[in-house]
Order: sequence, then structure tokens, then C-alpha cells
Amino acid sequence: MNHFPVIAIDGPSASGKGTVAQLVASKLGFNYLDSGALYRIVAFAAQQDNIPWSDALAVTACTKTLKIEFINEQVLLNNQDVSNEIRTEEIGKGASQVAVHAPLRAALVDMQHSFCKAPGLIADGRDMGTVIFPEAELKVFLTASTETRALRRYKQLQGKNQPANYEHILQDLTERDARDKGRASAPLLMADDAILLETDNVGISDAVDYILQKYQILQNT
Ligand code: CDP
Ligand code: CDP
Repeated sequence: MNHFPVIAIDGPSASGKGTVAQLVASKLGFNYLDSGALYRIVAFAAQQDNIPWSDALAVTACTKTLKIEFINEQVLLNNQDVSNEIRTEEIGKGASQVAVHAPLRAALVDMQHSFCKAPGLIADGRDMGTVIFPEAELKVFLTASTETRALRRYKQLQGKNQPANYEHILQDLTERDARDKGRASAPLLMADDAILLETDNVGISDAVDYILQKYQILQNT
């Protein structure tokens, strides 16, 4: 794997990882890895092929045949733009179900490492600091209470004119957190050397500034 600076941003669903990570990447001019999108693509592709999300071997075999590309803001699967299709709550749930399979996780490691290019990488996910980039220069664990995160997701869906029910979102997030934390392979876990950033009362730009400051301090030491 290439050695360029990596900032790993991990945390549970709707903690703000994607939004914060993309802003940090754009401020630093770094590459950006949305690792959750990979698990979402796999869940989507499996569904298209009528492969049950619980079938580890079939899901992994199917993944190995996929052509996955990130071009600008678009996510391409076998040359088709699936950016919107993979962002539904159903596919999010499917992503967390396929993500429990160790062989699938192993099949996605090289692709994630390939994002580490000059001048550096902001990697967002669940296991960026613990498994994929354990040597990352800076590791941040973003979190917020389940209620705060459910409300954020609710407002986000409303903003996109998509159906949103707060109680359902809260229940789905609780289930997804439990599955992500409880799985044997690369569970959602704060790395020992990560900085915890609780964002219940921290806005997006303050979170971005905080991470940039921490990175600046590291560079000056
Ligand atoms: O990537 P992840 O699922 O962790 O979260 P996200 O999609 O970046 O953020 C979920 C929603 O929360 C977005 O609409 C963000 O704008 C919002 N958000 C917020 O209101 N305050 C924060 N500190 C972080 C995110
Ligand atoms: O946007 P949100 O935080 O809801 O989800 P995501 O980051 O798109 O990830 C979808 C699912 O993929 C998560 O619930 C995890 O189960 C899984 N995932 C993972 O296992 N490891 C990662 N590095 C990223 C996502």
C-alpha cells in the first residue's frame, strides 16, 4: 500500500461522518473514501441478482465480479450510475447485513487501500482506524446520541422529499448500531488511539475545524 497521510473518521450511522469527512477532504485537497458506499453497492448488487444478504459465500462471489468506480460525485456499478439507488434506508440496512461477512470484508480491503494516493486520504466508515488504515496519522471517532442521529436522518430525508418516520428511523438506527457493534469481523469500535468527538452539540463546521486543527498540530510536531 502507498504511504500518504490518512485521516480516519469512523462512527455510527448519521453521526455526520460523510458530511464532515468530505468537507475536511475538500479543505485539505485530499482524496476521499466513502467505505460505506462499497457495502451499499454490494447490498444493491446482491439484491439485483436475488442473492440473500445472509448468504456470505454468494455475496462475496458476486462482489468479486463487480466493476465499482467513484467518478466525481457519482458511484458507478458496472458502468451504471447507482448513486441514488444505494442511498435508500433499505439498502443501508442491507449494507449492514452483508457487512457482517468476513470473506466479503476481506474482498474489499485492496480496493479501499487503492484510495490512499497523493496528497493524502480522508477515509470514512466503521473500521478505517481499526482495520483498514491502522497506521492513520489521525483517527477521529464521531458520535452523537441515537436520538440526535435519528433526528438528523429524519431531517435529511425530509429535505430530499423522501418518506420519513422518526420512530422507524430510531428503531432502524438502534438495530443497525447493534449489528455493527456486535459482529465478530471488524466491529464498529473506537480505535485506542482515536480522538472521540461527540457532536450532539457540535455543528458541522465546528467539527471540521476541530479535525483540521488536530491535523495541523500533528503536522507541526
Ligand atoms: O455519514 P453519516 O451517516 O455518519 O452522516 P451524514 O450523512 O454525514 O449526516 C447525516 C445528517 O446529519 C446530514 O444531513 C448532516 O448535514 C447532518 N449533521 C448535522 O446536522 N450536524 C452534524 N454535526 C453532523 C451532521
Ligand atoms: O451513512 P450511514 O452511516 O448510515 O451508513 P454507511 O456509512 O453508508 O454504511 C452502511 C453500512 O455499511 C453500515 O451500517 C455498516 O454496517 C457497513 N459498513 C461497514 O461495515 N464498514 C465500513 N467501513 C463502512 C460501512
